[in-house]
Amino acid sequence: MSGEAPTGGAPGGRAASAPLMGRACEPTIFELSAPGRAAWSLRTTGLPEWSAAELVPGEHLRGMPVPLAEVSERDLVGHVTRLSHRQYGVDLGAYPLGSCTMKYNPKVCDEAASLPGFRDVHPATPPSGVQGWLRLLVELEEALCAITGMAAATLQPAAGAAGELTGLLIMRAYHEASGEARRRVVIPESAHGTNPASVSLGGYAVATVGTDARGLVDRAELARVLAPDVAGIMLTNPNTLGLFEEEILEIAGMVHGVGGLLYYDGANLNPILGVVRPGDMGFDIVHLNLHKTFATPHGGGGPGAGPVAVTRRLAELLPGPRPVRLGDGYGLATPPRSIGRVHSFHGNALVLLRAWCYLALNGREGLRRVAEASVLNANWLRERLRGAYDFPFDRPVMHECVVSAATLRNETGVRALDVAKRLLEHGFHAPTIYFPHVVEEALMIEPTETESPETVAALADALLAIAAEARAHAVAGTDQPARAAPRTTPVGRLDEAGAARHLVATFDARRPAVD
Ligand SMILES: Cc1ncc(COP(=O)(O)O)c(C=O)c1O
Repeated sequence: MSGEAPTGGAPGGRAASAPLMGRACEPTIFELSAPGRAAWSLRTTGLPEWSAAELVPGEHLRGMPVPLAEVSERDLVGHVTRLSHRQYGVDLGAYPLGSCTMKYNPKVCDEAASLPGFRDVHPATPPSGVQGWLRLLVELEEALCAITGMAAATLQPAAGAAGELTGLLIMRAYHEASGEARRRVVIPESAHGTNPASVSLGGYAVATVGTDARGLVDRAELARVLAPDVAGIMLTNPNTLGLFEEEILEIAGMVHGVGGLLYYDGANLNPILGVVRPGDMGFDIVHLNLHKTFATPHGGGGPGAGPVAVTRRLAELLPGPRPVRLGDGYGLATPPRSIGRVHSFHGNALVLLRAWCYLALNGREGLRRVAEASVLNANWLRERLRGAYDFPFDRPVMHECVVSAATLRNETGVRALDVAKRLLEHGFHAPTIYFPHVVEEALMIEPTETESPETVAALADALLAIAAEARAHAVAGTDQPARAAPRTTPVGRLDEAGAARHLVATFDARRPAVD
């Protein structure tokens, strides 16, 4: 190919330097672009060069150049580095975003995932050439089955939601095999949004059950909803209020009683690791968010993994091919009544490798300590907040606590959103807010086990200070600082609803740069 710099790129040419780390907006890469610039520093090799027209049939060639950004290597590195400095992440500080388990991930797991022997293997390499990889995958599957109390698993699904759909397709295949046309799947009203979405994608209608006065599944309502057309129930335990469903065995009996299956949304597995297993609670299908609990950060758009584990009677339906033990070695096999592939090759293999590494690091005892510390931190934090915020369900929690800013709002006008924004000025990532919907002005806080007692104390101090400050300003009749927050971050308060409702998902590089 010709080494000439491509032309016809985006206009731009805006200067950018360190001052942009302040409040000014970082330009887009297109705004930094200047025609003819390139981010390479290769010397002429003397080897023959061909133009694209000599190599690619005419009908496949573009009529005009792609308007790519043209920037020097220096400008590119500066741009990306400035952006990375404006970014808050788990490596920077506490990230108590409830339901997301944004805990610190040990770097040794990343190191293992970057070993060339793992990283550089082509996924289509035949089993004989990847015996080490297959062994690792088989061992991971076995460990996940031991943790969940299941018989077999697929490692293919790429995220929690992908695992949910896989599980529901298994549920459907199971019922169809016995000639039953079931149409509804029960989910609690506090369920994560992906649950009803997966139910619909899986071809079922959603049947909702409410929450009782203790914050748990309303069993009287469940009894009314259950009928022979119910394919199953999807639950997360602890639930999204951070509460353990104490009557889970009774619930399992009720669902199994109408011939339904129990699906465990394992996104909240962190606090029960090594303590209790979904299999022992009566669940038939489980997904795990490896990108929460097992050493890959959740969020941020990176790859994830949502393996699905099932009981023995469902194992034949798992996606395939699956890595399996074959005599002294390892191979691939597709279960006899498999629902088919749900991901290419072995799934997101490097996320799986991180999880294997995390399990090897911690062992059974270490995992139990992970769970215990996550529960301790959440309960300790919650007790510190007593009096400043409302406790909608005043019971010990598992790994996260949901408190309400309803009284604070009534007394001061400061809402959960304002508390979250003010917390950014105290140097913490915001908790999840307004979820679960069953709690008014909800703040869902998950400190995770990886934060030190001092950091959890500082988080509690910050939340208390925000509430006290709001009350003091309400008494004095002065402007509420929380309403104007955040003022110390690279960007101030955004119109988040506007951004979601008027989605502009593309950038037109041909447009001239805007000042
Ligand atoms: C309770 C619960 N279920 C399911 C999911 C979906 O997982 P994913 O984001 O990997 O699709 C999440 C994600 O945060 C969750 O919190």
